Amino acid sequence: MPSKVKQPPLKRINKRRLLQTPRGMKDILPEDYLYYDYLIEVTKKTLEFYNFRRCEPPVLEKAELYNKSIGSNTDIVEKEMYTLKTKEEGEFLALRPEYTAGIVRAYIENGMFNWPQPIKLYSFGPVFRHEKPQAGRYRQFYQLNIESIGDASSALDAEVILASRAFLENLGFNQSDLEIRINSIGCNRCRPLYIRALVRYCKQHLKDICKDCQKRLKTNPLRVLDCKNPKCVVIKEKAPSFLDYLCGDCKDHFKNVLDILDNVGVSYVLDKTLVRGLDYYSRTVFEIRKKEKETSLSLAGGGRYDYLVKLLGGLDRPAVGVAFGVERLVEELKVIKKKFEFPKPKVFLIQIGDAAKKQAFILLEKLRKANILTEANLEKDNINSQIKNADRVNAPYALILGQQEVLDGMIILKDMTSGLQETIPLERIIEELKKRLVRKF
Ligand code: HAM
Repeated sequence: MPSKVKQPPLKRINKRRLLQTPRGMKDILPEDYLYYDYLIEVTKKTLEFYNFRRCEPPVLEKAELYNKSIGSNTDIVEKEMYTLKTKEEGEFLALRPEYTAGIVRAYIENGMFNWPQPIKLYSFGPVFRHEKPQAGRYRQFYQLNIESIGDASSALDAEVILASRAFLENLGFNQSDLEIRINSIGCNRCRPLYIRALVRYCKQHLKDICKDCQKRLKTNPLRVLDCKNPKCVVIKEKAPSFLDYLCGDCKDHFKNVLDILDNVGVSYVLDKTLVRGLDYYSRTVFEIRKKEKETSLSLAGGGRYDYLVKLLGGLDRPAVGVAFGVERLVEELKVIKKKFEFPKPKVFLIQIGDAAKKQAFILLEKLRKANILTEANLEKDNINSQIKNADRVNAPYALILGQQEVLDGMIILKDMTSGLQETIPLERIIEELKKRLVRKF
């Protein structure tokens, strides 16, 4: 067994004198990126089975795209967008606060409405919201976003929910730990009736709701249902239910979605106060969260947005989608103790002397080409420090190349478990290692 290597004491720096990341943003270090790699891999594997294809709009879009789609009275547009004016053209651009608007713009701009519908796309990348940073809430975070554009069928609402469920299951989550909350917020015909009833109800309790909600009653009354202020939470419990105001078509649509979920055996909770923080939704809306805590943050949120394509200048094309918060998924994967490691080197190459170092560069490239994961310290001349590193890396084999070996065209192969050493012709070393590695693994 390799000896335990003593770590040198940590050096410290004065963080206050450093230029640090902006508030609410963080570096994704290599150990954490293993989780992102895993998420990307599972995304690809899962969504390809549901026939979604990857599509990435730019990180910057015209700010107007978001004003128009998410809604100018929403928190995202009013308070949270990072905007800038370009120096030469004076264009107002925004860092994307979400994917849906950019994907719909891409759908229209690239003529995807002429392709066979629905168009099923997914994206994975950073989004930006200037929110108050707290646990699970960042100003730069990644989303996995899924959209199905061009068809009004309730089958597609159900498919997006089923794909979301499969994705979480493939990641390693237990279905029984998750909760899908679902509601219907109707269409342009029935929603105004509901909003009128909600405003009427809230006006009867005007003194009991928070100041923000009193304002929201004038600008965006549905947001009252989303308020987390304990006073408003009590009032909204007795608020009228959307389901009592749905028109016949919206009722049928919602019933069909629930029927499919029931038939497939997906459990869900009907949540009559579920509305979403973006204005483009219609009919089905849903969120997925961990069951354990009433207050737990959502892992994913989505729903139908049947009017958005037309609103952004396209044809009348209904759509449905969902987005996952990647950092929240990573945090949950850590809670369920999912662990990842960097691939372990199979060989450590030690070189002694100038001629050996030259030869080592050539050999190392050959080993990499042969897919034999090898580590070496070609920057080091000291044999002891190379041996120390070979121990730390814990590779099953070490190769030792000294002046004499170079002259003889040989190399020493050391089995790090048994300690046995053999001298082997350099030209045969790759073939020899491959044989032994197959036997060992
Ligand atoms: P959203 O609910 O705003 O929906 O965001 C989706 C998910 O992003 C949330 O469920 C949460 O996991 C994550 N998230 C949101 N804000 C933060 C934050 N500040 N820090 C970390 N994670 C966060 C949308 O973005 C819609 N575009 C989803 C959609 C797609 N609807 C239809 N298609």
